[in-house]
This record gives sequence, structure tokens and C-alpha cells, in this order.
Amino acid sequence: MKPALLVATKGWDVESWARRIRHLLPEHPILCTERSGVYAGPEAGLAEVAYILAWKPRQDVIDRLLGLQVIFSLGAGVDHIFALPRLPDVPLVRTVDPDLTARMMEYVVWQALHHLRRGHAYALQQSEHLWRDLPQPAARHVTVGIMGLGVLGRSAAEALIHLGFKVRAWTRQPKQAPDIELFHGPDGMDPFLAGVDILVALLPLTPATTGLINLALLKKLRREGPLGGPFFINAGRGRSHVEADIVEALRDGTLAGASLDVFETEPLDVESPLWDLPNVVITPHVAAVSDPEALAGQIAEQIRRFERGEPLRNLVDPRCGY
Ligand SMILES: NC(=O)c1ccc[n+]([C@@H]2O[C@H](COP(=O)([O-])OP(=O)(O)OC[C@H]3O[C@@H](n4cnc5c(N)ncnc54)[C@H](OP(=O)(O)O)[C@@H]3O)[C@@H](O)[C@H]2O)c1
Repeated sequence: MKPALLVATKGWDVESWARRIRHLLPEHPILCTERSGVYAGPEAGLAEVAYILAWKPRQDVIDRLLGLQVIFSLGAGVDHIFALPRLPDVPLVRTVDPDLTARMMEYVVWQALHHLRRGHAYALQQSEHLWRDLPQPAARHVTVGIMGLGVLGRSAAEALIHLGFKVRAWTRQPKQAPDIELFHGPDGMDPFLAGVDILVALLPLTPATTGLINLALLKKLRREGPLGGPFFINAGRGRSHVEADIVEALRDGTLAGASLDVFETEPLDVESPLWDLPNVVITPHVAAVSDPEALAGQIAEQIRRFERGEPLRNLVDPRCGY
């Protein structure tokens, strides 16, 4: 009998993940938590679990997996795993998948074009039955600055370049990328920001990125650019921005608009001023959802590789936190 696998996807449809994995790994016993993340099945089964497929797993569940060999994060981010006070010393694998990457690329392109093509202003005009053309800068005059040029940032950058935008990026370590102006580290931050018209955050949440995007940072964005003011798009993690500062920046004109898919606290409070500020696009953390149909195959393949003694892919470095 192959080792067991526990599906622990808090708040998600656990059964659709389990069904897909059962189909792909028929020899592995598959256990599930409830949608709340609580495990209410037979306790003895947990001792057989070698792999957990996790989204926001509960500490008491992890603590009971004494034979755990690999943690698979069902998202590209792993902050939901590192948020736990105690983790076993086993490899942590994150999700890197063409389906998820394509969805994020679509979101970034969608929002960059929305702001470039004056989507908010035209929607307002339409609501007033107003036929009036507005000044329209060309993409080639607009610079998109991406914070985080990882798997998702690179894919978004390629699509934006294809559309004609100028693209620059800021990372932790030096990088190489044709057609992208590159900056890195604390010293690279200010020169990076000084040329950015649309700032895109695709950063993981780590101690270094928590609260990074605040009012002082936003004030360093290019003010005299072709869009009449800078825009901010965050599809990484909400806690890497300071929400009160985003509100202030939108109110005082530091930002001309924003697209926010992620928030400090999710769901976003119904009383948050962000819902009603002009030129703000709010989406409920759906920029790139993890689809079991697309992702389960990749996880099954990783488990087969692991059981053949081959190295796991997309391992997280716990020292970097991503
Ligand atoms: N909204 C959604 O639906 C959704 C969906 C999926 C993922 N996400 C978020 O997107 C994030 C990025 O995913 P990914 O797959 O592109 O991650 P990734 O491949 O690990 O790339 C992360 C990038 O961020 C940079 N970075 C990390 N810490 C930094 C720091 N302190 N200063 C400067 N740059 C830093 C890294 O720099 P180096 O290149 O120098 O290492 C790298 O370029 C995930 O962690 C997740 O939080 C959101």
C-alpha cells in the first residue's frame, strides 16, 4: 500500500481536490479535512499520511502528522504555511503551474489596459450617456514597474512588453532579463520607482515585504508621466501594502487609481473606504485561482517523482520564506 495523502484546503471545495487526486493516484489512500480545516476522520489514518496538500492548514492537523514527508502548498504563495508557529522539518513545495501563471498574466494585462485606456472615465461617461473622447497615451510611453520578477512577474512582463509597454522590475537579487530594465535590493528601490507609471506588486509575503508599499514609497513614483499620475496594482499579497496609506494616496492624488486583488484582511471589510473610492478596481483574491483540474496532475507527478527517488521541483527555501 502506498503512503496516504491528506487534502487540507481550508475554505475551498476539499472534495473536488480529493476527487481529482484520487483519480490520479488510485493506490494512495486519500484523507480529507472538513472545509473548515478541521480533521474529523479516524485518528489512526493520520499516522499513515506522508503528504499534505495544504491551503491554510491548521496547526493541530499538522502536529498530528507524525509521518509527514512533504508539504505541498496549493498556492504559489507559502505565507499561509509559514504563518504556523510550528512546522515539521520536511520539504515544502509550492505551486508553479502554467494555468495559474496564465491567469495572473491575464489579470495584470487586464488592469494595466484598464488604466491605460481610461476604463473608469469611460464607464462614468457611459453612465451619463456622454459621447466624448479623452486623451489617450500610447502604451510605448507608459512604464510598468513590477515588484517581484518571479514566475508570475516574468510572465506578466512578457505580455506587457508584447503590448508595447516599457517594463522595469525590482527584485531581491540581481537578475537577467532581455527587454526589462532591472533594479534590485534596497539601493535599487528609489531609482526603480522614479520611472514607474503603473506599479505592479507580485511579491511574496515575507518579513521583508510586509508593509513595504506605504505612502512614502508611493510618493516616489513618477508624477509627470503620460497617465496624469501613477497607478498601483497589487496581486501579490495584501499585507505587503499598508491599506490606510493606499486610501490616503488615492484621496490626496499621490495615486491616480488602483487595482487591488489582495488585502491586509480578507474578505475586505464592507466598511472599507476602498470600495467607494473613484478609479479603484476591487476583486476578491481571484487574480490567479488554483484550479484542481489543472493543478492536481502536477502534484501527482511530483509525488511519483518523489517515490522514484527523484528531486522535487519548486522547493521553497525556508531561509528566504518564498
Ligand atoms: N492574487 C492571487 O490570486 C495570487 C495567485 C498566486 C500567487 N500570488 C502571489 O504572487 C506571489 C509571487 O508568485 P511567484 O510565483 O511569481 O513567486 P516567485 O517565483 O517566488 O517570485 C518572487 C519574486 O519576488 C521577489 N522578492 C521576494 N522578496 C523580495 C524582497 N524582499 N525584495 C525584492 N524582491 C523580492 C523575488 O526576487 P528574486 O528573484 O531576487 O528571488 C522574485 O523575483 C506569490 O508569493 C503569492 O503571494 C497571488
